[in-house]
Amino acid sequence: MDKLIIEGKRRLTGRVKVSGAKNGAIAMMPACLLAAGTATLHNVPNLRDVWTMTRLMTEMGAFCELNENELFVDTRNVDSWEAPYEHVKQMRASFYVLGPLVARFGKAKVSLPGGCAWGPRPVDLHLKGLEKLGVEIDVKNGYVHAEAKNLRGGKFHFDISSVGATGNVMMAAVKARGTTQLTNAAIEPEITALARFLCKMGAKIDGIGTSTITIEGVDELKLVDESVIPDRIEAATYLIAAAMTQGSVELTNANPYHLTSVISKLEESGAKLDINPERILIEMSGRPQPVNITTAVYPGFPTDVQAQWIAYMTQAEGSSRVKDNIYTDRFKHVPEINRLGANIEIDGNTATISGPSELDGAQVMSADLRASAALVLAGLVAEGRTEVSRIYHLDRGYEDLEAKLRKLGADIARKQDKHEPETAIAS
Ligand code: UD1
Repeated sequence: MDKLIIEGKRRLTGRVKVSGAKNGAIAMMPACLLAAGTATLHNVPNLRDVWTMTRLMTEMGAFCELNENELFVDTRNVDSWEAPYEHVKQMRASFYVLGPLVARFGKAKVSLPGGCAWGPRPVDLHLKGLEKLGVEIDVKNGYVHAEAKNLRGGKFHFDISSVGATGNVMMAAVKARGTTQLTNAAIEPEITALARFLCKMGAKIDGIGTSTITIEGVDELKLVDESVIPDRIEAATYLIAAAMTQGSVELTNANPYHLTSVISKLEESGAKLDINPERILIEMSGRPQPVNITTAVYPGFPTDVQAQWIAYMTQAEGSSRVKDNIYTDRFKHVPEINRLGANIEIDGNTATISGPSELDGAQVMSADLRASAALVLAGLVAEGRTEVSRIYHLDRGYEDLEAKLRKLGADIARKQDKHEPETAIAS
């Protein structure tokens, strides 16, 4: 319903606080379903995906209250083990409730997420992993029906390292009888943080932060308070915004250790970075050098920063290539950035960006969360006025984006878009 209006060519300077990680919060919230109790999660970003998870958990009987960035969760009265299509279609990560529900109630009925704007996104690894723990899975009428009369430990190797599947299987395994060993498990910081949260609740997990996780099931878990880690994708977006506008920006509440690949690529492009454990300073003068990236699982370059990097490289002195190995079809932002005057060609899973381009403001439309961010970045350096519509995608994952950018000196405002119906595609 809303659109963003950006008057470009403003250099960003100043300080911005990074919010809590969206992908961290929406993994920790369903983990609270594992036990009956209360917990307060701190540093929770106030954004749409968190509200979606809140609504889903509330429908199951939980009480959730988000106040500023503190989320109080009470799971004592949860009496439903169903995640309906209405929620899962809005946010694929709703599928995270499957593991915890099976572990707590021995059953669950969760809608299949289906595809998304980046092409098919299967959940086979979630299901195969749960089957290894003795969960009986039946998929019919678009729903996964799961039943675990005897949840027990097992060994499972993820053919592909999957963030969601690792989280889901791990959340079930913490209450399974016996030992579970997961190999080629995801080591993304949000998964590592989830594992630590589970341990704080009483789970026994070894190998946290490595791709082999060993879990010794326990009978009981107890809800505890925890803080969400800083959002590395949001942080990367602001670092790129600063570099792109040849600005000087300090990020606070950031964790630079989660951003090593992005930071090293920014340095390669000519940005100067000064790094402290909780603070990152970036300064850029002149146009960036062209720098190729290939997305990979953590600690590689995140696919969630691919779109923003493409926008950045439109300003580079020369040609660069961006290859997405995680989501080979995730290039919906490219035709829109080209509408602003960029010269980007797609061949398979690789974008070739011929820079530098003098971008001109235009009306553009976002197709997914990070694509929206890339369009905003392009608008920041475009001459004149850029209008980014369908920003409900952006609202899923960026807290106070325009307020934060305005504070840094951007000319950006939100307006109601009377022509756009509100629909959401899960990603
Ligand atoms: C999570 C992130 C998303 C990020 C992605 C990759 C959340 C809520 N979302 O998504 O922002 O872009 O990691 O870092 O944390 N796959 C299968 N079968 C499965 C599961 C995944 O083949 O059962 C494939 C996917 O198609 C993809 C790859 O595995 O090619 C990685 O996907 P995955 O890590 O599962 O992504 P999500 O957890 O959905």
